[in-house]
Amino acid sequence: MSQGLITAAYIIAAILFIGSLNGLSSQESAKRGNIFGIIGMIIAVIATISSAQVSGMGYITVAMAIGAGIGVRLALKVEMTSMPELIAVLHSFVGLAAVFIGFNSYLEHGMLIGVEKTIHDVEVFLGIFIGAVTFTGSIVAFGKLSGKINSSPLNLPGKNWLNVAVLAATSFLLISFVSGDSGLFALIVMTIIALAFGWHLVASIGGADMPVVVSMLNSYSGWAAAATGFMLSNDLLIITGALVGSSGAILSYIMCKAMNRSFVSVILGGFGAEVIAQDGDAEQGEHFETSAQEVADSLLAAKNVIIVPGYGMAVAQAQYPVAELTKKLRAKGKNVRFGIHPVAGRLPGHMNVLLAEAKVPYDIVLEMDEINEDFPDTDVVLVIGANDTVNPAANEPGTPISGMPVLHVWEADKVVVFKRSMASGYAGVQNPLFFKENSEMLFGDAKSSVDAILANI
Ligand code: TAP
Repeated sequence: MSQGLITAAYIIAAILFIGSLNGLSSQESAKRGNIFGIIGMIIAVIATISSAQVSGMGYITVAMAIGAGIGVRLALKVEMTSMPELIAVLHSFVGLAAVFIGFNSYLEHGMLIGVEKTIHDVEVFLGIFIGAVTFTGSIVAFGKLSGKINSSPLNLPGKNWLNVAVLAATSFLLISFVSGDSGLFALIVMTIIALAFGWHLVASIGGADMPVVVSMLNSYSGWAAAATGFMLSNDLLIITGALVGSSGAILSYIMCKAMNRSFVSVILGGFGAEVIAQDGDAEQGEHFETSAQEVADSLLAAKNVIIVPGYGMAVAQAQYPVAELTKKLRAKGKNVRFGIHPVAGRLPGHMNVLLAEAKVPYDIVLEMDEINEDFPDTDVVLVIGANDTVNPAANEPGTPISGMPVLHVWEADKVVVFKRSMASGYAGVQNPLFFKENSEMLFGDAKSSVDAILANI
C-alpha cells in the first residue's frame, strides 16, 4: 500500500475512533460506538501491516491468529461481573508492550546523534516508565478486583516519601540516560524501579477508591500506547493513545467528583488520607429479618418504590427478575424507579448496562443526584446487593468511604436489604443501615429472593 493510502486509512481510522468514543458515551448509541471502533481497528491493522516498513508477515499472521483466538474465547466466556478484571489484564498487556517496544527501539536506534538522539532517548525512557507502572499497577488492580489480593490499602511506613524518592531517582536516571553516561544500565534500573512503583501505587489504594484506579490505569495505558507511537513514529498510535489517555483522565476526574475525592490524593496512593483501621464485619446492634411474603405485602401496599441495585445484583444475575418485578408493580399503578450510584458494581455504568440488558425502561433509571431527595417520600426501598453505596458511615469521618456521597435510602419509610449475610461491602466497612429501625434484611441469593417475591405478587 502506498504511503498516501496508508495516511488516508489512518485518518479514517482516527475519525472512526473518535466516533466510537462519542457513541460509547450513552447506552442508546453504545452499540454503534462499538461498531465504529471495530471498523476503525480493522482499517488500522490492515493499513499498518501493508506498510513497506513491515516485514515478517508469516510471524505477524500467526501471532494475530493466536491473539484473536484467545480474544474470542475470552469474550465468549467472560462473565459480566469479571469484566473489570479482564480490562485490568488488558491494560497490563499495553504496559508490557510499551516496555518491550521501548527496549527494542533503544537497541535499534543506537546510531542516532544530536537533538534526534535526545528526543528519541526521552521518548524511550518515558515510554518504558509509563509502560512498567501500567503493567504492575494493572496486575495489582486485577488481583484486587478478582479478590486474589486483599482490597484494603497497603500502608508501608513513610509511603509518601517512598513515592517522592522514586520520582527523584527516576529524574536522576533520566538525566544520566539522556546525557549518554549510563545507557542500557539506567534503563534497566529505571524499569525495575517503575515496576515496583506501579505495584506500590495501586496496592496503597483502598477498595473504595478502585473505580478511580481502573479509569486511571485506562488513562495510563493510553499514554503508554501514545509513547509507543512516538517510538515507532506511528501517527495513528499517537492519536489513539492520546484519545484513550485523555478519555481515561476525564473518566478518572468524573469518578473522583462522584466520590468526592481529590484526584491527586488518589493517584498518589491515598496521599494525606487518614483512615482508622476497623473490623468491617463487627455487628453494630440488632437487625431484623423479613421474608419474601412480607416484602411482597409491603410492595403491594406501597405507592412509591425505589430499587437500588449494587454489585450483588450483578453477581446473582438478578436483573431479569428485578425487571419482571418492576413490570408487575408498574402494571398495578405503583411508581417504581431505580436509583443508581455512580460507582455501584465494579465498572462505570455497570448497573445501567445490566438494567438495559433486562429491558428496564431508561426513563425510570435515575442517577444518584436525580433521586437522592425523593427518599423521604418513598414507601419502600429495595436495596438489591448494594452495600458501600448506601452506607451512612460515609457521612462520618475516619472510614475508607468517608466523604463519598451515598444514596440516602434510610430516609424512606421502609428499607429492605437483599444480601446473603451480614458481611461488609467491597470497602470493608460495616453498614449501620442494616441496624436501623426501618431496615429489614432479606437473606439469600438476590435472584432467588426476587423470584420468591414475584411468586407472591
Ligand atoms: P458492594 O459494596 O461491593 O457490596 C455488594 C454486596 O452484595 C455485598 O455486601 C454482598 O453481601 C452482596 N452480594 C454479593 N453477592 C450476592 C448475591 N448473589 N445475592 C445477594 N447479595 C449479594 O456493592 P456496591 O454498593 O455496588 O458498591 C460498589 C463498591 O465497589 C464500592 O466500594 C466501589 O467503590 C467499588 N468499586 C466500584 C467500581 C466501579 S467503577 N463501579 C470499580 C471497583 C470498585 P453478601 O456477601 O452478604 O451477600
